[in-house]
Amino acid sequence: MNYYLGIDIGTSGTKTVLFDEKGNVTASASEEYPLYQPQNGYAEQKPQDWADAVLHTMAAVMKQSGAEPDAVRGIGLSGQMHGLVMLDGNNNVIRPAIIWCDQRTAKECVEITEKVGAERLIEITANPALTGFTASKILWVRNHEPENYAKCAHILLPKDYIRFILTGEYATEVSDASGMQLLDIPNRCWSDEVLEKLEIDKKLLAKVYESPEITGGLTEDAAKQTGLKAGTPVVGGAGDNAAAAIGTGVAEDGKAFTTIGTSGVVFAHSSQISIDPKGRVHTFCCAVPGCWHVMGVTQGAGLSLKWFRDNFCDAEKQTAKGMGTDEYYLMDREAEQSPIGANRLLYLPYLMGERTPHLDADARGVFFGLSAMHQKRDLLRAVMEGVTYSLRDCLEVFKEMQITVDSMMACGGGGSSPLWRQMLADLYHCPIQTAKSKEGPALGAAILAMVGTGAYVSVPEACAAIIGTDKTCEPDADAMPVYERYYQLYRKIYPALKEQYKALAAL
Ligand code: XUL
Repeated sequence: MNYYLGIDIGTSGTKTVLFDEKGNVTASASEEYPLYQPQNGYAEQKPQDWADAVLHTMAAVMKQSGAEPDAVRGIGLSGQMHGLVMLDGNNNVIRPAIIWCDQRTAKECVEITEKVGAERLIEITANPALTGFTASKILWVRNHEPENYAKCAHILLPKDYIRFILTGEYATEVSDASGMQLLDIPNRCWSDEVLEKLEIDKKLLAKVYESPEITGGLTEDAAKQTGLKAGTPVVGGAGDNAAAAIGTGVAEDGKAFTTIGTSGVVFAHSSQISIDPKGRVHTFCCAVPGCWHVMGVTQGAGLSLKWFRDNFCDAEKQTAKGMGTDEYYLMDREAEQSPIGANRLLYLPYLMGERTPHLDADARGVFFGLSAMHQKRDLLRAVMEGVTYSLRDCLEVFKEMQITVDSMMACGGGGSSPLWRQMLADLYHCPIQTAKSKEGPALGAAILAMVGTGAYVSVPEACAAIIGTDKTCEPDADAMPVYERYYQLYRKIYPALKEQYKALAAL
């Protein structure tokens, strides 16, 4: 039997899974690490923590599975996108990594837009300058820590730093590189124009591969530490969402997934490049060679429900403990007792500002229509519906871009709620399916390793052979028009508040 390792270097921890070539889990191990927030809006992690977690979990799955080192035919990497790792000439990490959710770079985003030009920036990088993306973080280090910038010999993304630890190669791949704001997205290579205008030396950047391509082999040292064989191929892999797409079988036109985690993502595959000139959704190269994906992000999706739980659901937490069940299960049951529209109550989920479709850091949450008759169950339902309206907003942008979706997978914590899946089906007007395997990004990374090492001919072929679906939730013909009336009203609330949000932020 041949085995493949999928390694997902996430924000809260790393998960390493050993799969057989049918995608069955043979062994799995995780290790957590801290997130450092030295100041409000800052978010950093130590690359050494990721490396330790990866090496430990690789060794753990090899031990657990008892697999022969020879039988592990390939390794795929997936991970949090956008983070900045800087190495000096001796390959030492210069400073902690500034990661995706760090918000310190508003001024550098203005600098990028001025130097490249707003329109040209979207044409080349398919996105407006964003604080989360890597380019603004590079400029921040240059502007605020010139001594560190002067020492920098290599710039790597989080999972690509791990690749360096495993293989000694400075390499990246198109899907993760797309989130650096330095890649020419239509042409899948570094943009000389952007690099020149931002005065960033191309020599600092890693070599760009397609996701299933082999980027190097495991070093003797990494092999010794993990129990694998030196030379085991490591393929490009993919950023977390692009890897999750492969792990849920989203590798062809018409296929899409929605994930409700802390943030919510609506992701659609596209064999043609399509860029929103208003920059409301991201267009990235995807893990299928020669293809792209569009991705809308709702900042406060699962976060909205978690916020509600933490502030108003102590009783549910206690009862759930007593019953040995999950409090979210009880909250679902409660929300189900409120009718569609939550008795005329709407919720805007902008607790952390919003990316799609408003790109507004000042937007904030709203309950609209609150009345003395409302009960907790109505507020709960309104929160879940509001998040779903916001995810539908992402699909509306896709429609404007002529990207059609006819199959939608649901994943993430929210995707396990039957009520939430029904809301998605009723608001998207299409069936919502879940994947049999819950391994998402790790499975996607392992599939890329299978393709790169020749077990399958192509990524779509591997997905067709490996990914199975279990539950399907059909749209309810009676519910759809009722939701539609509420959704159309929801769409009018943000424009009415846009100016007031600015005033609120300025108070
Ligand atoms: C994608 C994004 C997140 C990170 C962290 O644009 O910001 O999904 O990759 O998981």
